[in-house]
Formats: sequence, structure tokens, C-alpha cells
Amino acid sequence: MSQLVFRNGNLATMSGEGLGVIEQGALVVTNGKIEYAGPENALPQLNPGHQEIDLKGSWLTPGLIDAHTHLVYAGNRSDEHIRRRAGVPYAEIAAQGGGIRRTVRETRAATSDDLKSDARKRLKQLARGGVTTIEIKSGYGLDGATERRCLQVARELGDEGVASVTTTYLGAHGFPPEFQDQPEAYLDWVITEVMPGIVRDHLADAADAFCERVACNAGQTRRYLQAAKDLGLKLHLHADQLTDGGGGELAASLGALSADHLEYCSEASAQAMGKAGTVATLLPGAYYCLQEPQAPPVQWFREYRVPMAVATDCNPGTSPVTNLPLMMHMASTLFGLTVDEAWQGVTKNAARALGMNDRGELRPGLRADLALWDFDHPQDLLASLGIYECQGTWLAGQAV
Ligand code: NIG
Ligand code: FE
Repeated sequence: MSQLVFRNGNLATMSGEGLGVIEQGALVVTNGKIEYAGPENALPQLNPGHQEIDLKGSWLTPGLIDAHTHLVYAGNRSDEHIRRRAGVPYAEIAAQGGGIRRTVRETRAATSDDLKSDARKRLKQLARGGVTTIEIKSGYGLDGATERRCLQVARELGDEGVASVTTTYLGAHGFPPEFQDQPEAYLDWVITEVMPGIVRDHLADAADAFCERVACNAGQTRRYLQAAKDLGLKLHLHADQLTDGGGGELAASLGALSADHLEYCSEASAQAMGKAGTVATLLPGAYYCLQEPQAPPVQWFREYRVPMAVATDCNPGTSPVTNLPLMMHMASTLFGLTVDEAWQGVTKNAARALGMNDRGELRPGLRADLALWDFDHPQDLLASLGIYECQGTWLAGQAV
């Protein structure tokens, strides 16, 4: 039985409502799972031959979870940033063939090897910020072959042992040029041909859609997600990012694990999400890049007890970022999240947003996905602009 013991440090367990701080704490990992997380002076009997790590006063937290990324893509859209700064709206750039459509062209043209090596760099950058689990969406292929290739690349990156990866088929990120004026025909094809193949070959764990004027309307979104649900996929939704399209309510009514973005989420949607237990995944990077005039309604999420997660939304257009601690800072500065909310948003609530109940806290029985930090207190991560790299991560008890 392999056993690893961390002692002489501080733990932020995330159990309960807050950080769950245990000073002078210790953590015991047995066969990849947490066996004990608590005060050092109450350590259980250890196995002979266990391995010990002296934390020397550092902090151990759950490995961070980035619950929303578009990590696999090709191309460069920095000129769109310059155009947006000059006053051209995102929707107008998209209507002119930029935005998602442009990344679709460039991703289709890229080899799987190139997609993989670019995405690997981003994944390693995320891991340096303490991330041990990453959700990766497709959605920049919007055809059968490229969507499958992107999901396959994501799966293979997950096998490399730097972070666990969970994959999401974002086949309704918009409509591809070959189905320009036939959105329903595209959905028919996706639902009858592409999605069943993706499910059969275990390429995706979940499905997602972009419910917005520039992408899918509510009826199309419902059709796509209902088909995914019928095939056994978990659900997420890009909801109410640029306008209130009732996305939060729609996600809740379908039993989605999360509704994401939510700048224009209505009170009724927040209420429905609270009832259904749908997590609000906040994406301050996209909010910031698009300079949205309205922030997500955090007060309603608190009032209706909607759990909040915080993610990077790493993508080439609206959130080119691979630093989750920086997103915690921005969720605090731009959205008013507290220290407890931001930390729970990248650990426990992020796990919930992904339907992964085996991680996100330092609690006996859970996977030993861990991050080690040399900050003075977990709030330092919120107060700084992404300057902290973690000292080390462990995946199921294995040092990365
Ligand atoms: O989450 N909102 C839709 N999709 C992505 C990225 C869009 C893009 O590539 O412009 C997002 O922000
Ligand atoms: Fe996104």
C-alpha cells in the first residue's frame, strides 16, 4: 500500500462554506486517495515505509479546476482585439466572418500534431497556476472530422499526466459555412450522425451550446442539448453572455450542470438555476476583453443559492488567458467575489460544475489532486495579478 504524508504546513480544505483552513495541518494520501486531512497532532497511525514530505510552513490546497476552456484551436486573432479597441463590436466582427468562424477555418486547416503541441503549451501554463483538472471543449471544427480530432487531441493530452482532462462536444458553437442558411439541417446532421459517433467512441463527456443572437436560438439550443442528454452526455451552456436569451432558465430546465458567462442573466434564470442546482460558471476574462457594460448578477446568485465557479474560458478571441489565479483576482475585482467564493469557484464548485464529485476538496475519500503554494495566505492569490506559480501539483497522489 503506497502512502504519502504531508506534514508541517497549512491546509485550505474548501470543506464547508469557506476556505476550511487548518493551520499546522497534515494530509495523508493512501493509494492515490486522501485518507486524512486535519491537524498534525491528530495524525492517524501511519504505514511502515510511508513517504514523508515536509511542507515547511507552505500551503496545500485542492488542485485547481478550470471548468471552461477552448484549449484546442489554431490561429491568431489579435487583430480583432485591435479592431474592438477601435470600436467595432464583437458581433460585427463575427458577422464579417471573423470570430468563431475564423478560428473554425484555421482549426480545420491545422494538423492534429500542431493542434496538440499548441494546446499542450497552454495546458502546461494552466498547470503552473495550480490546475490539475481542465475541461476542454471542441467547437472550432463544426464538422464531423475536425470536431472529432479536437476531442481526440484533448483526450490524449489528458493521458500525458500533467492534468486530468474532461471533454465537451460544443457542436452548437454556431453554424458552419457549409450550412450557412440551413441551421436546422445542420442540427439534424449533428444529432443523427456526428453526436452518436462521438458518444460511441467515448470522445466526449458532456455537450455544450452557445445560446446567443450570433449563434443558436433557444429552440435550436434545446434541440441540441436534449439530444445530447438522451445520449447520456452531461450538459453545459454558454448562456446570456451578450444578451438575455433566457439561457440560465433553459440550462436549469434541461438539468445542465452549469450555465456559463451569464452577464445578462435575469432574476428568473438565477432563481431557476438555484432550484435546479445549476452552477453559474463566471468567466471574467471574456467579460474583460469584450468590455461588457454589465457584470453577472452575483447578488442574485447569492440570494438564490446558485453555486459559483470561476474559469478561464481560454480561447483565441475573447479570453486568451491561461492563468486561473488571475481569473480569481478578476472575479474579485470585477465581480466582487469574496476570497471564499473565488477559491470555492476554482475547487469545490468547479468540480460540481463538471459533475466530478471525486475532487475539489481536501477530504477523506476524494482523489489526492493537490497544489502546493508558498503564499502567506490563500487571499494572496486574489490580491495579486497572477504572479503566483504553484510549487508543485499531484494527480491522484502522483507528483506531476
Ligand atoms: O466562451 N461565447 C462563445 N464562445 C467562446 C469563444 C468565442 C470566440 O472564439 O470568439 C467564449 O467566449
Ligand atoms: Fe466559452
